[in-house]
Amino acid sequence: MATPLTSSQTYIDKFDPLDYYKAYYQSEGTITEEWVDFVLRNLHETFTTGGVKGDLLIDFGAGPTIYHLLSACEAFNNIITSDFLEQNRTQLQKWLKKDPDALDWTHIVKRVCELEGNSDNESCKKKEEKLRRMVTKVLKCDALKENPYDPVKMPQADCLISCLCLEAACKDVESFTNVLRNFKSLIKPGGHIVLQSVLNCTYYFVGQNKFFCLPISRKELEAAFKEAGYEIMKIKVIPFTKVPEKDVCDQDSYYFVHARKPCSQG
Ligand SMILES: C[S@@+](CC[C@H](N)C(=O)[O-])C[C@H]1O[C@@H](n2cnc3c(N)ncnc32)[C@H](O)[C@@H]1O
Repeated sequence: MATPLTSSQTYIDKFDPLDYYKAYYQSEGTITEEWVDFVLRNLHETFTTGGVKGDLLIDFGAGPTIYHLLSACEAFNNIITSDFLEQNRTQLQKWLKKDPDALDWTHIVKRVCELEGNSDNESCKKKEEKLRRMVTKVLKCDALKENPYDPVKMPQADCLISCLCLEAACKDVESFTNVLRNFKSLIKPGGHIVLQSVLNCTYYFVGQNKFFCLPISRKELEAAFKEAGYEIMKIKVIPFTKVPEKDVCDQDSYYFVHARKPCSQG
């Protein structure tokens, strides 16, 4: 039976950031090993040789995670991160404030530092400190609102990134396309959007709780970007080969999309 859309209230009541971290990020060898490798490499390339840089980066739907900001903090002066859930924003704040109970990202920091060619302890510590300095705000966002940051008036960003979020929030491809369209008001003319997530996934587990995922195909993904008015710069898809021992999620591949809002759009 198809997994029904997870309501906002169920997210509020049932999404446990610690369970999420343990299942997907705590150690190497978790289900998301391939995902982490794919995402970190794509972001490293995008924000170095890819030439994507600027003043402001908006990070949409971070959950309790910071892994995807570790390359970005070298290319932007100001990062605004965000999530729908208070419990996730609390985790983000804990990490930013070096709370002793904060989630530990050091193993992932090391991998990003390796990609950058400096993975000694000192460089890894500096990288964490740099990211902490660059993140200036942790905001509430809701993908299903026309202004996802309402009532906050957001400055337009040079780049918006989002990982594994829109498929959680959107009930169908039409809603997904609409969110992409709304994101354009958050991005400067000529600015970038980088989206990374799963294809053809219908659910994922966090602890004992099963959450809906929108099963989007590559064809639908490309069409959504085009219909929302972006110019696609690059798309990458890799298969999901790490078959889980227990039932955790059912994607068949991971995607990376780098697109631009046309300069002619305000
Ligand atoms: C699978 S998690 C992804 C977390 C993180 N970005 C990552 O890469 O691991 C899905 C995220 O979508 C967020 N979410 C759910 N409904 C949302 C909505 N309406 N607007 C924005 N985010 C939402 C949840 O709070 C959760 O953090």
